[in-house]
Amino acid sequence: MKSTNTSVQKINKRYIYIVTITAALGGLLFGYDTAVIAGAIGFLQTKFQLSAAMTGWAASSAIWGCVFGAMVAGYVSDRYGRKKVLLITAILFSISAIGSAIPNTLTQFVIARFIGGVGVGAASMLSPLYISEIAPAKKRGMLVTLYQLAIVLGINVVYFINLKIAGSSTEAWNVEMGWRYMLGSEVIPAALFFFMLLFVPESPRWLASKGRTSEAAKVLNKVNGQIEGEKVLNQIKETLKFEKGTFKELLSSSLRPALILGLVLALFSQITGINAIIYYAPEIFKNIGFNTDSALFQTVIIGAVNTLFTFVAILFIDKIGRRKLLIWGLIGMIASLFGVGCVFYFNQSSSVFTLIFILGFIASFASSLGPIPWVIISEIFPTKTRGIAMSCATLMVWLGVVGITQFTPVMLEHLGGAFTFWVFMLNAIFLLGFIYKKLPETSGKTLEDIEESWKK
Ligand code: GLC
Repeated sequence: MKSTNTSVQKINKRYIYIVTITAALGGLLFGYDTAVIAGAIGFLQTKFQLSAAMTGWAASSAIWGCVFGAMVAGYVSDRYGRKKVLLITAILFSISAIGSAIPNTLTQFVIARFIGGVGVGAASMLSPLYISEIAPAKKRGMLVTLYQLAIVLGINVVYFINLKIAGSSTEAWNVEMGWRYMLGSEVIPAALFFFMLLFVPESPRWLASKGRTSEAAKVLNKVNGQIEGEKVLNQIKETLKFEKGTFKELLSSSLRPALILGLVLALFSQITGINAIIYYAPEIFKNIGFNTDSALFQTVIIGAVNTLFTFVAILFIDKIGRRKLLIWGLIGMIASLFGVGCVFYFNQSSSVFTLIFILGFIASFASSLGPIPWVIISEIFPTKTRGIAMSCATLMVWLGVVGITQFTPVMLEHLGGAFTFWVFMLNAIFLLGFIYKKLPETSGKTLEDIEESWKK
């Protein structure tokens, strides 16, 4: 009797964690897929005797796939459901992993990587969206942050796999086979993702938006307990009555601020330089004098700080809120970027300060601008347009990634290290001002409460 009462009232933590971890595997594949190429590209270059331009294609074909995947996944998932499209991304990941491990020509390789990119782009918006739509309001921030943790873990895992493969074999073997194992190993998490997805429910909010109320009720009751579940379902039904579900609705005066907020956060999460720092860190660390095992060193230390500080967000995002965390994180990022710029400006890049500022930047980012944009863009839009709106925002993320990849080397060459990092700093300052003025606190509110608040 007692246990029935409890299940009527309580959040089903075990269930919600299993569902969240399953969806977060999309993030693990995101991290894995985008980082794997760093270890493989050198061997590919030798194997296929690539020119600089062709190397660029080999490295960036997946990112163009991401742009495409992010663009279409919203519309398709609004129509056919979140779970179905997540299953498709798992299939794309598997095809791409096998396809990019077996090619004999560059064209085959580029096509296989593009297919995987479509999966990354789609999963990068759908995993957080799905978690957000199923999570209990009080834990939503923390649960979506687990997705960012998975991205970071994916990056770390693949660095270790790459190092292990490259480190334990001869150069000739790596050129012939090593990169194939690096890329092909992704099939393991991809298959696990597919298998686990078979056991999770469809998103209750999507079900409700399609009039499948009793199925939605089942999921909501299982997650929240019956009493809270019924309350949430009523609120969802009430709110859905006023949604049009058109793109035009997103441009209406009440929702435009949400759309602008989503786009700005998504873009600035990239153009404040995180991936440039992660990418150039080995170079910078080498200057400090960590030549031996510097690759391993930077992997361990950046990965560890990135992971550790994501837990700060996990612990505090629902307690102290998105706004405060983001504001403090941005202040930390601005100070660190200023510091990195100064180190370059005064030719002190070999000093220990470089290490301190870079790790300060990673720590500040990991506890704020890493996870929070994913949380916010998955919670600020109405259910019927959440897919397309998140597609727009996620597209900005990927355009930001493309921009940073293209322009960082150019900026470093023409502006030098100091001004490059100060440009990132200026972007962070702009974002801080924007957040301070425009970001409402959303923690603890249901998605429907948030939707209502835009109308006021
Ligand atoms: C965030 C960023 C992604 C970055 C990652 C690193 O998810 O969106 O671009 O690589 O954090 O921690």
